Amino acid sequence: MKTAYIETYGCQMNEYDSEIVRAILEADGYEFLDSPDCASIILINTCSVRENAHQRVFRRIADIKILKTEDPSRVLGVIGCMAQNLKEELLDEGIGVDIIAGPDTYKKLPEQIRKFRTTGKKSYELSLSRTETYSDVFPVRDNGVNAWIAVMRGCNNICSFCIVPYTRGRERSRDPEGIVDEARSLADFGFQQVTLLGQNVNSYRYESFDFADLINAVSEVDGIKRIRFTSPHPKDFPEKLIEVIRDNPKACKHVHLPLQAGNDRVLEMMNRTYTRKRFIDLAQNLRSEIPGIALTTDIIVGFPTETEDEFLETLEVMKEVEFDSAFMFKYSVRKNTAAQRKYPDDVSEEDKTSRITRIVDQQRKIAYQRNQKHLGEIFEVLIEGYGKKPKQLLGRNDANKIVVFPDNGLSIGDMVNVRIDEVTPNTLIGTAI
Ligand code: 5AD
Ligand code: SF4
Repeated sequence: MKTAYIETYGCQMNEYDSEIVRAILEADGYEFLDSPDCASIILINTCSVRENAHQRVFRRIADIKILKTEDPSRVLGVIGCMAQNLKEELLDEGIGVDIIAGPDTYKKLPEQIRKFRTTGKKSYELSLSRTETYSDVFPVRDNGVNAWIAVMRGCNNICSFCIVPYTRGRERSRDPEGIVDEARSLADFGFQQVTLLGQNVNSYRYESFDFADLINAVSEVDGIKRIRFTSPHPKDFPEKLIEVIRDNPKACKHVHLPLQAGNDRVLEMMNRTYTRKRFIDLAQNLRSEIPGIALTTDIIVGFPTETEDEFLETLEVMKEVEFDSAFMFKYSVRKNTAAQRKYPDDVSEEDKTSRITRIVDQQRKIAYQRNQKHLGEIFEVLIEGYGKKPKQLLGRNDANKIVVFPDNGLSIGDMVNVRIDEVTPNTLIGTAI
């Protein structure tokens, strides 16, 4: 029985990769199931960006091992970033993993599974490629409003805390023609929004074609109403891209701009290659050039040797920029990164907890204040699904803010004007007009 199940952890790139894997295995005759209970192949697409993502995956592998004990013919595969980084630990007999595949070897999965079935030998495929972009694979997506498109893979930045360059390899950009074709097919399938993905989208380059050109090219596709992207690196945000976000009506007015830290010494140790001042100038420039833009960010607290005063600078920058929302993390050591090799993980757990609590609190207040400014405003909302309350629809505005409102008979995929009557730090609550 060729049945398969895949579970995904981590970022949107991983979600996209799972859709790629699904396409590759479906072409080999597999049928995908919604639960692992009856699947002959169970794949876990893993993330290693932070320690807690790791631990969740190990716990999940232990659960799935029980299913394997009930039916030993099942194959358990660990794929993705953790696979790339932890092959010895994962292939240990006691763990129960049969095959391992890294992010650039998914085309070999059918063969790898066949080999395991015939020989019973565990195997790994982990080579990183300088060219693989899966541009010839059309991912299998569940129907919806938004589809991800990876426009580049890998990362050349080498931020000292980050495992991604080691798990996903060198940067490579995908041919724009293939990307536009994919957007066209997505529009034919009824998708109205695409999110262009890359570890560092402003390094996208294909011959003379840059990321701003790419947004413009995708915006020519009829049926695609909104284009989002994530993430740019603050070190090189070209004026041309700012102009495209401002002037192209399909380009969403939202930029995710990872700050990481607000102190110059820490930023340097992180190898971020910008200063606090340059970051603030860029954020202010984005806000003044693109009216209504939402800025969101990622922050790490407790990077090695970060002092209390240096942490306070992160709080200050966040106050100055007023991010609309933020993902905030405690630093966690990642094996083989420059930070792990060069610096001690010397900020105590207690200090990390105190710092994260303080930035989360401050950010909640800022997000709430920013959302309050939207009271009475009317936004065009693309409906994506249902809210938590009964008879409530949920969508997003152009700036990626979640908007909920009472169901007035509209459907998922409809665009509707909603007046904002109430806000919380994370949600705008309104009425369709
Ligand atoms: N510790 C904590 N957070 C990390 N991130 C990446 N690596 C680490 C790490 N070692 C965070 C960064 C990045 C986001 C995806 O995850 O903020 O932008
Ligand atoms: Fe995504 Fe990075 Fe996690 Fe890999 S390690 S899944 S690239 S967030």
